Amino acid sequence: MEEVLKIRGGNKLKGSVRISGSKNATVALIPAAILASTGPVAIVGAPDISDVDSLAELLRFLKVDVIQSSKENIVIDPTHMENIALDHPAVQKLRASYYFMGALLGKYKNVRMKMPGGCYLGPRPIDLHLKGFEALGATVEYDRGSYHIFAEELVGAKIFLDISSVGATINIMMAAVFAKGRTLIENAAKEPEIIDVATMLNKMGAHIRGAGTNVITIDGVEVLNGCFHEIIPDRVEAGTFIIMAAAAAEEMTVENIIPQHLESLLSKLQEMGVDMTVNVDNVVVRNHNGNLVGTDVQTLPYPGFATDLQQPMTPLLTQAQGESVIKETIYVERFKHCVELQRMGADIEMIPASAIINGPVKLYGDRVTATDLRCGASLVIAGLIADGVTEIHDVYHIDRGYENLDGKLKSLGAEIWRENIDE
Ligand code: EPU
Repeated sequence: MEEVLKIRGGNKLKGSVRISGSKNATVALIPAAILASTGPVAIVGAPDISDVDSLAELLRFLKVDVIQSSKENIVIDPTHMENIALDHPAVQKLRASYYFMGALLGKYKNVRMKMPGGCYLGPRPIDLHLKGFEALGATVEYDRGSYHIFAEELVGAKIFLDISSVGATINIMMAAVFAKGRTLIENAAKEPEIIDVATMLNKMGAHIRGAGTNVITIDGVEVLNGCFHEIIPDRVEAGTFIIMAAAAAEEMTVENIIPQHLESLLSKLQEMGVDMTVNVDNVVVRNHNGNLVGTDVQTLPYPGFATDLQQPMTPLLTQAQGESVIKETIYVERFKHCVELQRMGADIEMIPASAIINGPVKLYGDRVTATDLRCGASLVIAGLIADGVTEIHDVYHIDRGYENLDGKLKSLGAEIWRENIDE
């Protein structure tokens, strides 16, 4: 039996939706919490997604106490933790398990773990993470799918990232919190999730300056303590719902957002003619009556247009007048959703690293596959505006990163349900 997600398109969405805590911040904050030597770290506002469950499983495997009074409140007490080799299957369920590399290396100067898994978006090397660890004085060994990274001591260094990688920036920051002296990360990524992780580490007693700019300075400290931290809202979930609203709402309010994190998306939507009002912590989107115009989108590191929103944006562009071009500069192969959307009637031409979309076209419900998380979101949006029923397979990708997506959509008036079908 396989669980599939089904959507009968055509209902106009109406009402409010509340955005959950940021997945990509949470998946770094949880491993960061093990850096505390005393006292628990209380993280509030975690999204109820399977990536968080996988990380909690890994914490428990390391003998860390994890108390979840509710899904969104996680108390992590690493007092009795042990540095066990991470050969647990959960490592390969998500990409972000690589944050245990930086955290365990920082704490124990020694980490053994399997290669991390996660969405396939084309090649996703971690060479910059490893180069950063080496610059701090670590030795990296790789043998048949497992890493061993170790050091006598870690010493602060100047590290220039060839690419502004989110993961490498956070991982090096975590490895460097206890390193002797000063570490400089140059050409660091500037994503809001990096600021969130630095903020929590500083509450724990770290000395990190410049997160959110392209130069981050970390002065090594001796110990970190427990703290209380509330996670920022998920800008990708927010963006996904705003795009959904633009595609399928009569009137919809997307609540609990930080609009500044979404500026590149909001300005694109404005350019397309989406009728919306941006308030301090919410956006209200109204029916466009079929008057959208196509636009070109180029994905870039923050504050540019997020690659994670490129896939949800594609079905909206199929509804806009004229030609739109999406150029993907972060993951040049992140176009599997286009093949699925073509099945539903989208007029998309794929050329290397780009997709050319012509609209508006009618979409039709079909049997499609969520090949990765944001592809799943893109298909849900397409399903909401398609004629007939869309049947989405491999829905576990969606559950990795969107909290209760179908429940939230149901409360907005969508006809969406899960079904177990014979494989
Ligand atoms: N890169 C390298 N070498 C490295 C690291 C990255 O060449 O050592 C390249 C990548 O191949 C990519 C670019 O640098 O072309 C940027 O990758 P980055 O390291 O910034 O990505 P990431 O940290 O692995 C995070 C998010 C992704 C999001 C990207 C880009 C998490 C857990 N994941 O991945 O989120 O797409 O940043 O913004 O934070 C998602 O949520 O669906 C998702 C895939």
